[in-house]
Amino acid sequence: MCGIVGYIGHRPAGPLLIKGLQKLEYRGYDSAGVAVHTGSEIEVRKKKGRVMEMAALYKSSPIEGSVGIGHTRWATHGETNDQNSHPHVGGNGEVIIVHNGVIENYASLRSKLQALGYVFRTTTDSETIAHLLSHHLEEQIKLGESLDDTNTYLKAVENTLSKLKGTYGLVILFRELPDVMIAARLGSPLVIGVGKGEHFIASDASPLIGYTEEVIYLSDHEVAVLTRDEVEVFHRDEGQQTPSIQTLDQVSEDAELGDFEHYMLKEIFEQPQTLENAMRGRIDEDEATAKFGGLNLDPQQLRKIDRVVLTACGTSWHSGLVGEYLLEEFARIPTEVEYASELRYRNPPMSENTMIFAITQSGETADTLAAMRECKRKGHPTLAICNVVGSTIAREADGGIYLHAGPEVGVASTKAFTSQVMVLIQLALFLGRMRHLSYPAGRRIIDAIHQVPDQVRKCLECNDLVKEIAQKYCNFNNFLYLGRLYNFPGALEGALKLKEISYIHAEGYPAAEMKHGPIALVDEETPSVFVVPRGQIYPKVMSNLEEVKARKGPVIAIACEGDRKIADIADDVIYVPDVDDFLQPLVTAIPLQLLSYHIAVQRGCNVDRPRNLAKSVTVE
Ligand code: F6R
Repeated sequence: MCGIVGYIGHRPAGPLLIKGLQKLEYRGYDSAGVAVHTGSEIEVRKKKGRVMEMAALYKSSPIEGSVGIGHTRWATHGETNDQNSHPHVGGNGEVIIVHNGVIENYASLRSKLQALGYVFRTTTDSETIAHLLSHHLEEQIKLGESLDDTNTYLKAVENTLSKLKGTYGLVILFRELPDVMIAARLGSPLVIGVGKGEHFIASDASPLIGYTEEVIYLSDHEVAVLTRDEVEVFHRDEGQQTPSIQTLDQVSEDAELGDFEHYMLKEIFEQPQTLENAMRGRIDEDEATAKFGGLNLDPQQLRKIDRVVLTACGTSWHSGLVGEYLLEEFARIPTEVEYASELRYRNPPMSENTMIFAITQSGETADTLAAMRECKRKGHPTLAICNVVGSTIAREADGGIYLHAGPEVGVASTKAFTSQVMVLIQLALFLGRMRHLSYPAGRRIIDAIHQVPDQVRKCLECNDLVKEIAQKYCNFNNFLYLGRLYNFPGALEGALKLKEISYIHAEGYPAAEMKHGPIALVDEETPSVFVVPRGQIYPKVMSNLEEVKARKGPVIAIACEGDRKIADIADDVIYVPDVDDFLQPLVTAIPLQLLSYHIAVQRGCNVDRPRNLAKSVTVE
């Protein structure tokens, strides 16, 4: 949430910052701004709205300078308007900051600073940091520290950070220090790009692509001092660090839109390929199992696991639900799926051999990170199922499995969901084959998953039909999504997709639960989307469907090819290939994603940048 970019070097900073912010816009798009050091002053251009609107403002009044910082905002404190946009000014302009995170004690700090005479220009929590820096700089000067010495500023930064409660990714410019940029991290990611005679800093590596391949990931409680030629890193408790320079995975370049109208549609259509990627090199045909390079646990430890906890948020939580069914069915390991936001504060009893999996596309979700850390603290092996290489969760986990889905730009998660499910299928197979699953059963699973990319390719052929169906239903304001067993998480995910991008109220339920309340909602104005492929309990779900029809509820069914019966009952049917039950969430995800996409487009919604949302939720 919120994207930060900074540059110190020899190029004009303004255009570079704006380009970087465009790449980070998925993190927040309420407002944007840049500040550039002219050598004597720091000038700010900022504006409510998308980066392009701020870029137009910048174009009409550019700032010359080769040191600067930029920000694209997802509002937490204070409404979205020009003033509340970052960068924020501290004191009388001696400090300028951009901030990602939440300052929990901002209200008391604000009162104290106001009592000292600081005038607040915004209603944000972030402005408090700017004034506090100004205040501590003044204190340093009173102590006789020199304004020419970087240490004076570093001290002011350290004193400021010690007063903050909450989270921050912070980049700071000081007016009297034109050739230095200072950054600090606690809970919100920052990555430094190392160039020749120049340095970059950003919330993630995407703005760095094309400029440098060498990066330094800042860790919590670290402060970095960047000049054109040097990066120094200091840890709060451990003093100066030797930064570890890593090579960037340049894969992010393929985040281009190509011929697609929206990233979401592009990413939906990428799924045959991303599913292949999630399997590549992981199937052990001879042993009828899966293999993973990065779990970092030996077979003895893996065999001892007596419980699995999958923790995640949102869509990743839904894939976790599929994972629960898979792990219990294939590996017979008791599994629970925990909302990370709950798990981080709960204290459920966990046996010594409970293994934790944090499932996350971004690898930066604040709640998932906190839940993972909490479990690690208690001594459990914590592994990540993650898409973004080098993200905080990927780095902090004891081991893990990458999705290799490539950058997911659309705010609504699509390809990451199916890749997560594919990884969980292989994980369940792997753990199952260490326990009760027979060789022939393992082989059957492998043979089935080999066909999935082609089956998903086939599903994508329904795009035109789904568009027509979307036209018919786009003006309804309430939807139910219903499915059972493996299709219950699919129903939840379908409902989430619809509400987040089209702003239509949608509820996902296990189909049979409907009778215990939600059926009261059914009428001619409330369509139900039934995920009802053939499988173990097909007749039961059909009964639930009939119950809805009996109450005049319109029904869209996602059913298996060749199911003629359903065409007589449902109002509209979208067919998917007939697959094993455990693969149904993969094939049914495609029409569900397309349905919400087309409904949202027809309602004129901004599909890739839905209101109030951001791709990477780095605040609690
Ligand atoms: C919905 C969506 C979110 C994310 C959630 C967790 O389409 O994308 O619900 O799934 O914010 O994000 P990650 O997976 O990055 O931890």
